Order: sequence, then C-alpha cells, then structure tokens
Amino acid sequence: MKRKPLVAGNWKMYQTIAEARQLVPELVRGLQEIMGVQKVICPPFTALLAVKALLEGTDIGLGAQDLFWELEGAYTGEISPKMVAELCQYVIIGHSERRTYFGETDESVNRKVKAALEAGLIPIVCVGETLEENEKGLTEIVLQRQVKVGLQGIDLKLDEQERVPLLIAYEPVWAIGTGKAASGEFANNVVREVIRPELASLFGDQVAQATRVLYGGSVKAKNAGEFFGQTEIDGALVGGASLKADEFVGIVAAAAEG
Ligand code: PGA
Repeated sequence: MKRKPLVAGNWKMYQTIAEARQLVPELVRGLQEIMGVQKVICPPFTALLAVKALLEGTDIGLGAQDLFWELEGAYTGEISPKMVAELCQYVIIGHSERRTYFGETDESVNRKVKAALEAGLIPIVCVGETLEENEKGLTEIVLQRQVKVGLQGIDLKLDEQERVPLLIAYEPVWAIGTGKAASGEFANNVVREVIRPELASLFGDQVAQATRVLYGGSVKAKNAGEFFGQTEIDGALVGGASLKADEFVGIVAAAAEG
C-alpha cells in the first residue's frame, strides 16, 4: 500500500500576522519545487486568513491547531468546525500541549474528531505517551486507549481515491520540544505493533493500512531522513523547525526522497 507522505508544520502560539507575512513567502519559494509530498502549515487562528491569501495558487494546505465541536452558540472564545472549514482543509486535534495545559481528554478529542469530519475537515489526531508512562512500560496501553476512545463511534472508510480522511500523529510527549527525538526504529515499531493493529481492530485492515501515520517530536532537517526511511511512518508533524523556512523545506525535501 502506497501512502502519500504528508508534512505538517505546527506553528503553535508563534507568528503574528506581520511575522507570517515574512515567513510564508520564504516557505512557498522553497516548497513549491518539491513534488510528491503533501505540505500543510498550521498557523494560529489569527493568522489563518492572511496565510490563506499568501498560499493562493500553491499546493500547500492550511490547517488549524484546534477547534470546538459545536457548530455555533454561546461559547465565548471558541472556534467552530464550520469556521475552520471556511479557511482550512486540516485541523490538529488532541495535541499533547492541549491535553496537558487545557484539560483535553480522549473524550473531548473524540467529539472534536467527529465534528471535524462532519465539517469536511481532515483531522490530524495526536497521540503519544509521556516519559513517565514510557518508563513504566505503559506506552502500548496508553496509545491503544487514545486511539480507541479518540476514534470511537466513527465510521472510518476509504474514500473514492482509497484515501482515509484522517491522519494520526504519533508524538511521544518526551520528544516534543526537547531536542530528544525518538529513534526512527522505535517510532516505526510503535506504529507497526500498536497503532496500526488498533486501527485494524476498529476499522479493518484496509483502513489501517491506508491511514497515514506521522511522527512528531523534535524533527529537524538533519534527522528527518531517519523517520521517512521507515516503512510505517508517512510523514511528520513538525513544531519548532516549522518556524524556520530552511529547516522546514529541508524536512519536506527529505520526505520527498523517502
Ligand atoms: P517539536 O514539536 O517539533 O517542536 O518537537 C512537535 C509538535 O508539537 O507537534
């Protein structure tokens, strides 16, 4: 099964509109030469409209970093799936920073994933164990629960192009923003032995094999090849390095080489 690689840049809470107007043209210049990889950038909500305009006519997709599950209502400060879908094709859901700092749970992730799919967005669903869970040997149990509860009640199917309208990002929490990436081999084993089997038990083998699974956590241009060379890893979710044009372009170029 050939899965098209995807590299997404998660800008987190960085980049004003003015800063994004400097960064995006540099990204476009570097990225437009690279073929065979889906490229996505996920700016903060406030910069989405400006970035969308700058991406016009390019093959670079746009994503949000979160959403709320209700379509509209008295929910001060929240952004709905239909608001995100006006601007974006993708949305990151359940990032570990949202789980750690903003009380996101597997149940809230589940409601958001359902709402995103209903709005026609492609969710990038983040899962990953903490350092403590990893050291206690709980990686498998934690990931199985995150995938199972996060995706419960969803009827995930292949579309007409045999694509699954959802991606998983495996991001070990201990590797995020620490400069200590997991090894390619470790991440590959986790995807092969835990994440795909869990997807297969929920949605069948075909969907499990067609679902793209990204690795995230301290991916840089110089270590990206280690992940893209793995059979089970279909791209990356990049944080810090997505804010530097040369780094992000280097990562996408490494994905194109596979
Ligand atoms: P990092 O972040 O690349 O800065 O480690 C990854 C992420 O949080 O998605």
